[in-house]
Amino acid sequence: MNVNWEETFLNTYGTPELTLVRGQGSRVWDVTGGEYIDLLGGIAVNILGAAHPKYVQAVSDQVGTLVHTSNLYINGPSVKLANKLQELVGWPGAKVFFCNSGAEANESALKLSRLTGKTQVVVVEGSFHGRTMGSLSLTAQPAKQKPFEPLLNDVTVVAINDLEALRVAITSATAAVFLEVIQGEAGVRSLSWEFIRSARELTSEVGALLIIDEVQTGIGRTGAWWAHAESGVTPDAITVAKSLAGGLPIGALITCGEASKLFTPGSHGSTFGGNPVSCAAAISVINVIEQEGLLSRATTLGQELKESLVNRSHGIVTQVRGRGLLLAAEVHIEGESDPAAKFVAKALEHGLLLNAVTPTAVRLAPALTITDAEVEQALLRWALTCNYFSEVPS
Ligand SMILES: Cc1ncc(COP(=O)(O)O)c(C=O)c1O
Repeated sequence: MNVNWEETFLNTYGTPELTLVRGQGSRVWDVTGGEYIDLLGGIAVNILGAAHPKYVQAVSDQVGTLVHTSNLYINGPSVKLANKLQELVGWPGAKVFFCNSGAEANESALKLSRLTGKTQVVVVEGSFHGRTMGSLSLTAQPAKQKPFEPLLNDVTVVAINDLEALRVAITSATAAVFLEVIQGEAGVRSLSWEFIRSARELTSEVGALLIIDEVQTGIGRTGAWWAHAESGVTPDAITVAKSLAGGLPIGALITCGEASKLFTPGSHGSTFGGNPVSCAAAISVINVIEQEGLLSRATTLGQELKESLVNRSHGIVTQVRGRGLLLAAEVHIEGESDPAAKFVAKALEHGLLLNAVTPTAVRLAPALTITDAEVEQALLRWALTCNYFSEVPS
C-alpha cells in the first residue's frame, strides 16, 4: 500500500511507522507480513484482542440485521446493553446515555453537572478527560490546553492525592468533581482510596456530583468491572468508552440516583449514540468477559506481569505500577533522558507493540484474552529489548 501520510491527514499524530492489516488474538500483522504481539490493545481498547469468534459473530449478525436507527426509534441491542450496564453498576436508579467516545461521555457528564445550577468543576493535576473543548477544559495538562485557550474558566486543579487541596477546592459553588481512579494518560498513576472517599464525602456535603472517568479503566481492565469498586464509593456518575465495545466506537454516561433525573428531553443527544452494531459488540464483550472468567485473569496476569517485566529486564525496568492489565513500566537506560520512546522503538523491532506514555514510562494494556503462550513470547521479546539496552549481556 502506498501511504503518503503527510499529504493525506491533518498533522495531529505525527506519521506512524507501521501499517497494520490483520489481527488474531493478541497478534497483529503489518503490510509486509511482519508479526507483532500487541501489548497495547489499540490503547486499552481491544479487550478481547482481534477477531474473537463470538465477537465477530455478534457484530456480523447485527450488521446483517440493522446497522442504525437514530434515537427516534428504540433498538434492541441498546436496551439490552443499557440493562446490562445497570446490572454491572448495581446502583439504585441507574440510567444510561450512549454516545461515541470517551471525550463525548465526559462532555455529557459536564453538561449534566451544569444542571445542578452550578458551574465550578474540580479535576486532578495530570488528568486526561478528552480533547473536545469541554473535556479539554477538564484535562489538566497545560501543554494540551494552552493552544486552545480560552477554555471553560471555572475549573480548579488539585494535586494528585492532596487531601487538603481537595478540601479547599470543593465549595458550595462546586458542580462536580471529575476523577480517574488510575490516570492512564499521565503514566498509570493511582489515586489513593482515601482521596476518592474524601471526594465522595466532600461532594455529598455541598451537593456536587462525583463523576468517575472509567473510560480507560472500566469494563474489566483493572480486574474488576469498575476500577472504583474497591473504594466502596458510589459516585453520581461514571463515564465509559474504550474497551466497552472492544474496538467499535461507543461511549456511555451512567448515572446514579438523583443525578439520573437531571437531563430532560432536549437536554442532550447524539445521532449515532446507542447504535445497534456498537451495542451488540459491547454485549458480546461483556458476555465473553463473564464466560471466560477474564476479570480474575486480568488480576492474576497483571500480578505475574508486574514481577516478570522487572525480573526479565536485565535491570532496565525499575518499577511496574498499575492494576490488572493496565500497567506502566519505568525504564532506566544509562545516559538517556527520554528512555521510554527509545525502548518502545526497539521493542517494535523485536515484534512488540507498546506505548511510551511518559518520557520514562512504557504502558501496557493488553487484551484480557492474551494467552499464556502469547505472554511467554512477549516476555522473550521484552527481555531481548531490555538486553539491548543493558550493559550486561545475557
Ligand atoms: C480517562 C480517559 N478519559 C477520556 C478519554 C478520551 O477518550 P476518547 O479518545 O475516546 O475521546 C481518554 C482517552 O485516552 C481517557 O484515557
